[in-house]
Amino acid sequence: MKSLLVTGGAGFIGANFVQYWLNHYPYHKLVVLDALTYAGNLANLEAVKDHPNLTFVHGNILNTELVKELMQHHQTDTVVHFAAESHVDRSITGPDAFLETNIMGTHSLLKAAKQIWLDSGVDDHRFHHVSTDEVYGTLAENDPPFTEATAYAPNSPYAASKASSDHLVRAYQETYGLKTTISNCSNNYGSYHFPEKLIPLVITNILADKALPIYGDGKQVRDWLYVEDHARGIELVLSKGKIGENYNIGGHNEWHNIDIVKLICQLMNEAFATEPELAQRFPDALSVAKGSAESLITFVKDRPGHDRRYAIDAAKSRCELGYEPAESFETGIRKTLQWYLNNEEWWRSVMDGSYQGWVSQQYHA
Ligand code: NAD
Ligand code: TYD
Repeated sequence: MKSLLVTGGAGFIGANFVQYWLNHYPYHKLVVLDALTYAGNLANLEAVKDHPNLTFVHGNILNTELVKELMQHHQTDTVVHFAAESHVDRSITGPDAFLETNIMGTHSLLKAAKQIWLDSGVDDHRFHHVSTDEVYGTLAENDPPFTEATAYAPNSPYAASKASSDHLVRAYQETYGLKTTISNCSNNYGSYHFPEKLIPLVITNILADKALPIYGDGKQVRDWLYVEDHARGIELVLSKGKIGENYNIGGHNEWHNIDIVKLICQLMNEAFATEPELAQRFPDALSVAKGSAESLITFVKDRPGHDRRYAIDAAKSRCELGYEPAESFETGIRKTLQWYLNNEEWWRSVMDGSYQGWVSQQYHA
């Protein structure tokens, strides 16, 4: 039986990973360590809260003693590290929390893993670090996509903090022999995505009849991946990835921001036209009820240091791990939209912080 410590498992990708893992490996022990910041919500794990092999611990990755205690107590053999401050806009207005959690927090986990595994001769272990394609910086329109050999050139405080954490993970592998892997993934979308990021923000703003802010000219490009495909990619890195390697995970799915916003508007217009009860359930959604969600599109001042284009070359993951995204964007975006229409209570409660949680173990971080 494997025993995983999943940091940040109450956030968007972490919670999807936890649900994926418990569905596929219900006999594995899974401990989630999460500080429950604004982005982490126990509501994201409600569906699996009674799983006998899931333990949720409310605590901070900066607390090295707590991490060591958990790893020892649960005989952790695998760390999957998602915990991070993840929103670029917040990293521009307040970078400190990004440096603390993303750099110092990752270092705290590495120190704990080194002591619990290496200093006690535990050979069978893996530290998997979840990173981002944003560490590679930005691409021009016709540049080839990022490969694992692309030099790091982070542009936002968020990306710089993730790049630093990647370097620390690498250093612990090279210097101490910690068995590490890193995945660098493109933009994710899907269920439980906190509505400050583009796709869920646009969906929930349409339902509130609020402006849909497009930064700059809206011609920036992102490569969107369905969140469950990210979980599958990490699963493959854990089972087939080589120690000390980075793996790019991406969706072969580049979109201009403005086009994705227009597509969501069009799909929402269609949903309201075919399901008349939506207009009753969402009485504020006046524009979409009239079939004109796109009238909410509003161009606003650009984000400082805004990366123009991200695109992933996932050939290494395809050749070495057999990785291929399973979900098409066509189906994934419809599923996502439907999920937000069906889960109004979730997005309202995480936005106003009113969810009444459950905790299986409470620690003071
Ligand atoms: P998120 O912001 O939704 O969730 C982050 C989680 O980490 C939250 O549950 C939060 O409570 C927790 N957390 C934050 N600080 C903590 C701390 N000090 N101690 C313990 N827990 C803490 O983020 P996400 O979008 O799910 O991203 C997860 C990981 O994937 C991050 O490392 C991010 O850099 C990476 N990533 C995200 C994307 C994306 O598109 N969202 C793409 C590529 C990589
Ligand atoms: P975001 O979801 O914040 O992800 P990231 O910055 O990590 O790629 O943003 C995706 C893209 O959408 C990015 O180019 C910024 C843009 N954007 C807007 O145009 N308006 C918005 O309100 C937000 C949140 C993002």
